Amino acid sequence: MRGIFITGTDTGVGKTLVATLLVRGLLDRGFPAVHFKPVQSGFVAVSGREYPADLAFSWSLIEPEGDLAAYCAQRSLYAFRDPIAPDHAAEKEGRGIEPAAIVARAKKLAKAHLLITEGAGGVAVPLTANYLMADLIADLGQPALIVARPGLGTLNHTHLTVAYLRQRGVTVAGIVISGYDPNDPIAQRNRKQLSEMNGTPTVGILPRIIGLDTERPGWLAGVVAGTLQEKFDWDTIMAIIKGPAR
Ligand SMILES: Nc1ncnc2c1ncn2[C@@H]1O[C@H](COP(=O)(O)OP(=O)(O)O)[C@@H](O)[C@H]1O
Ligand SMILES: [Mg+2]
Repeated sequence: MRGIFITGTDTGVGKTLVATLLVRGLLDRGFPAVHFKPVQSGFVAVSGREYPADLAFSWSLIEPEGDLAAYCAQRSLYAFRDPIAPDHAAEKEGRGIEPAAIVARAKKLAKAHLLITEGAGGVAVPLTANYLMADLIADLGQPALIVARPGLGTLNHTHLTVAYLRQRGVTVAGIVISGYDPNDPIAQRNRKQLSEMNGTPTVGILPRIIGLDTERPGWLAGVVAGTLQEKFDWDTIMAIIKGPAR
């Protein structure tokens, strides 16, 4: 399926930030990209009503004039109130997650859109007792981008994530570092080693943005977002989207 799956080494690493910026950048380049967030835990309030948090954030940069409820309805399938693990949240609400329903929705959306799919947490997060996020990535057949932290611990987390995805036959197309501080020597060293260690390109290095809070839709003003777009290697991202030459 065309598009990219945005996963990460953990929850809270910058997946929503990256997905939002990629969709914005692709739309600006004339591609019909959408932020697809099939499984979401956690809502935020916008104008007195509650919406799935990650989509509310991307909406605020992508379609701020549009209807947020309609925006979320198209792009989400399982949205749970509590910001906890998806299978736990589903259990609390007496619902079950059906992977086949996610794949069916993705296929439908993909007829007219380029899907920038965002996972939840990392690759080994359970969606059901025997179906993990990595299984969904494999079933969707999208190349994966891994969002990683810059500092101590990231080599281990990223390497494990890459290996786990490759074991399932997922193409790991690249890494994006989020929260980079150019004055941190550990981050500087990791930046080089992440790519070398995993044989995969680093397609974006987003700086640490003081005060960023993706649970506050509208936080990312157009001008900040514009500056961040320059931190991506768009040639490589476009090549990932076009897929391997046949
Ligand atoms: N580049 C960054 N600069 C500063 N803070 C960041 C950055 N990337 C992520 N964060 C922090 O992590 C939080 C979660 O980011 P988010 O994109 O929602 O992660 P995820 O989707 O992986 O859970 C943000 O609200 C912010 O506090
Ligand atoms: Mg997110």
